Amino acid sequence: MQHLVDTDDFSKEQIANIMHDAATFKKEMPSKLLEDKLLITLFFESSTRTRSSFEVAAKRLGASVVHLDPSKSSTNKGESLEDTFENLAAMEPDGVIIRHEFNNTPKKLANKNLTPILNAGAGNYAHPTQALLDYFTMLEHFGELKGKTIAIVGDIVSSRVASSGIRLFTRMGMNVVLVAPKPFMPDNDLPKYEKLSNIIDKVDIVMSLRAQLERHKAPIFEDYDEYAKEYCITKELFEDRDILLLHPGPVMRNIDISDEMLTDKRSKVLTQVKNGVYVRMAILKALLLDN
Ligand code: CP
Repeated sequence: MQHLVDTDDFSKEQIANIMHDAATFKKEMPSKLLEDKLLITLFFESSTRTRSSFEVAAKRLGASVVHLDPSKSSTNKGESLEDTFENLAAMEPDGVIIRHEFNNTPKKLANKNLTPILNAGAGNYAHPTQALLDYFTMLEHFGELKGKTIAIVGDIVSSRVASSGIRLFTRMGMNVVLVAPKPFMPDNDLPKYEKLSNIIDKVDIVMSLRAQLERHKAPIFEDYDEYAKEYCITKELFEDRDILLLHPGPVMRNIDISDEMLTDKRSKVLTQVKNGVYVRMAILKALLLDN
């Protein structure tokens, strides 16, 4: 039984296969490879993209999906997360897709080895399917990513997208630089800049991140319009540079990225969402069929 807690659960060969399968699925929709499979989604935090993308991916492959809404589940009656999970696993699904506020929840449930766990986002620790779809989107554009430089810009310390992305991109031979004001900067060995303008001529990709206000114990900035003056991705900042622009969503318009840049052809924000379905199809195939 294989789980996806973070991308290092996949070997480089598996990642290459996932990239290949996603590209193949994008060219031509496959047959119902997972017709006899059933997945349960369990999202303890809000989601627009990840939950619907997993569901679309599963259904495109012929799988059935059952969604348990935690706000209407027996967790309200005091049932623990572990008991909720064990009861769902007793129904013999082919996998449980979970999003949770705690970093260690997917690992804790995976260790029970009752059914494959697919981490759809855990705390600020990991969001592996987002990292893989971001990698696919860059690969699709550049063909080869070894030696390419990505600047991750914004609230990096709160971001599970950044955490998983940093681990995946560096493992695959990319250079990662971090751009953030001090309160948003994590403590690690990567090159760090306070302003994107200081490094913009050396980057191939910019990944902008939202300020994760829901994870801040106390407000960090009073005024995000002031923050935006330095960190919002604008046409004035990019000029005519050939830089790919990514954002995992949801985008705070004109704080993370300007309206104008969101419609610029260098922005791949909706391409990421589109690719997310094909990448999640490939991930479901890898976990439920190829193992
Ligand atoms: N990128 C992402 O995780 O978006 P959602 O929170 O809408 O799923």
